[in-house]
Amino acid sequence: MNKTIIVSNRLPLQVKIENNTLNIKPSVGGLATGLKSVHEEGNGIWIGWSGLTEEELNKDLSNQVNKEVTKAKCATVPLTQDDVDNFYFGFSNKTLWPLFHYFMEYTEFDNDQWEAYKTVNQKFADVVLDNIEDGDTVWVHDYQLLLLPKLIKDKKPNTTIGFFLHIPYPSYEIFRTFPWREELLHGMLGADLLGFHTYDYERHFLSSVKRILRLDVQFNEISYLDRVVKVDSFPMGIDYKKFHNAALSHLNQSNTEKSELQKRLDDHIQAGPDTKLILSIDRMDYTKGIPNRIRAFEYFLNKYPQFKEKVRLVMLAVPSRSDVPQYQKLKRETDELVGRVNGEFSTVSWTPIWYFYRSMPFDNLIDLYTSSQIALITPVRDGMNLVAKEYVATRVNQDGVLILSEMAGASKEMNEALLINPNNFEQLADTLKHAIEMPAEEQSKRIKILQKRLQRYSVEKWAEEFMKSLNDTKKIGKTIVAKKMDENHQATMISDFKQAKRKLLFLDYDGTLVGFKDNPQDAKPDDKLIQLLDQLNQTEHTDVVIVSGRDRETFEDWFADKSYNLITDHGVWLKAKNDDWQMLEILKTNWMDNIQPILQTFVDRTPGTFIEQKKYSLAWHYRKADPELAQIRTIELNTVLTHLISNNDLSVLKGNKVIEIKSSSVNKGRATSRWLTKANYDFIFAIGDDWTDEFMFEDLPENTYSVKVGFKKTKAKYYVKDTDKVRDLLANFTQQ
Ligand code: ADP
Ligand code: G6P
Repeated sequence: MNKTIIVSNRLPLQVKIENNTLNIKPSVGGLATGLKSVHEEGNGIWIGWSGLTEEELNKDLSNQVNKEVTKAKCATVPLTQDDVDNFYFGFSNKTLWPLFHYFMEYTEFDNDQWEAYKTVNQKFADVVLDNIEDGDTVWVHDYQLLLLPKLIKDKKPNTTIGFFLHIPYPSYEIFRTFPWREELLHGMLGADLLGFHTYDYERHFLSSVKRILRLDVQFNEISYLDRVVKVDSFPMGIDYKKFHNAALSHLNQSNTEKSELQKRLDDHIQAGPDTKLILSIDRMDYTKGIPNRIRAFEYFLNKYPQFKEKVRLVMLAVPSRSDVPQYQKLKRETDELVGRVNGEFSTVSWTPIWYFYRSMPFDNLIDLYTSSQIALITPVRDGMNLVAKEYVATRVNQDGVLILSEMAGASKEMNEALLINPNNFEQLADTLKHAIEMPAEEQSKRIKILQKRLQRYSVEKWAEEFMKSLNDTKKIGKTIVAKKMDENHQATMISDFKQAKRKLLFLDYDGTLVGFKDNPQDAKPDDKLIQLLDQLNQTEHTDVVIVSGRDRETFEDWFADKSYNLITDHGVWLKAKNDDWQMLEILKTNWMDNIQPILQTFVDRTPGTFIEQKKYSLAWHYRKADPELAQIRTIELNTVLTHLISNNDLSVLKGNKVIEIKSSSVNKGRATSRWLTKANYDFIFAIGDDWTDEFMFEDLPENTYSVKVGFKKTKAKYYVKDTDKVRDLLANFTQQ
């Protein structure tokens, strides 16, 4: 039976050694807690780091860890202390984490740590490859493993791979500062489906892909090599029932069943009818806005002194990444601030802040959630924030108020919370007052709507939707009819070629024989290509024709001393081997005077674009333009041109990052069909990459071996990945 392999840096359980024995605890953090229920149900495995380094494990302990981990349907990736220092504390948490959370000032770019990041991603890949079987699905998680999808895809191209990012994806302006940005994007694009918490993160990612890799993006699909990569947003939910049911059972606890913590919380609540607890729970992380929250609370107590001795901020901060200096600094700052505020406001019977710096068992979390009338969640940047959702799920009496930062991904789907900007103390203080005084009816109205949504879009539903979408990516390929030219197809084709008596090869030039350059004049044939074309041209009983939209002058210049068959200007001119140029179509060019000024206005308004004036056509190139602006402009230009050319014999061709206007009576299909009359060909091959080549694929006889370069919609029968593959394929024709 096929299985799903979950891969994340941390396993859902963390192993520690205490007095030479193993201590196993559940991991904290949104990822581990969220996915646990998904993993428990399936028949798959979860691959990750146990939390211990190789140096800490002797043989005996190692066996014990393996036993425990296997019992929990997990497998470990062995990491050394060096890996942990440079990959985990280093690159993951000193570079990617701050950068993706917009903390540029905390971001380090260190080459050694980048190397460690690559090495450790490879270690994860090795364990995945050891555990994978044909037909399995892999689901990779989070920023520690951005290179992993590609590492798996390269080795197992038929495996379906999903990737989910649990943290924000930053805007292009931030991401572009990252020195290894191309490699990181290629790493992620190894996946078939990329998931983000919100549409904003998805949008930022697509923008980086378009601008940095210059890939074609249509809606949420990226054409990447010979695949389509789908990108979508899936806001992660929680295990609603678990939290709701736990809260229900807490409500019915007898006094003796209650925890010590619960008893202390009860004491506070019973101190007076209008006393309230304000709760915050986070990992101790600078993205969570902890110091700002304390300052804002101080501001609130000064602004509204009537609440002194009535409200208390209960702050649980779970230790996290404490080897990273910024986290140590944050801990010191928090300690100081709590001390200062408590020192300033405490009375004999009241301290304004209860501060816990430790991890707590699940039951105590529920005590905190159910006892607090207000939750104050104020991250300055947070991918999602599950604590906000958990708080709402535990409000079984439909009371309580959630104050939530609009910088948390969760705010996008929790409109009924009181949304605040965590940097605006005035707003925060007023919102706290509003929350404290909110009538029960309003509380219930808000909480009910929030609960309904959380109940429906639970973590199970989230995982289900992701997996469904991931499965659907298998169908994307099928809507494009062309088949990948694999070794079997190639062998059949070459055998047909060898048996044929008269053979014909049509080769498009740009995007097929050579890759694209920013400037069309730079795409001259290189020595290797000339060598290949010479060999093809000398192959017996074979006519090789280069069919291009290039103008005659360019090819005359580039192939001056060659006796190739050439068709230029999309089919206006033809030069047969050892013959003179011949005009295939008589064309008017007077329309150009009208169209040229219009194109010029687009050049003026779209930096990076230019007009290529050919003898019989005009081309507007936008390869170097900002892709998002270019997308808007191409739609605009298309509308303008369609209107203008309706009474002329002109057509608009959308090529690869170019729009070309030319006479309708000229196209590669007409030109190549004419060539067919020259001999009785019993083997025909045609290869090209863009729309202009589709005319050729459409018009050539049924038995033609037609091949598209890249994975795009096409009338060709086969497709190949890129220009390198084209050259490999053509080299086969030269081997006798
Ligand atoms: P992050 O992923 O940045 O840590 P989230 O709010 O998304 O932030 O997720 C935190 C998760 O960790 C929540 O599911 C929460 O219940 C859990 N958690 C927080 N504190 C503790 C704790 N002391 N013990 C166990 N789990 C905790
Ligand atoms: C966030 C990240 C997770 C990470 C968790 C805890 O939720 O998205 O990938 O596991 O924090 O952080 P830690 O560094 O302890 O794994």
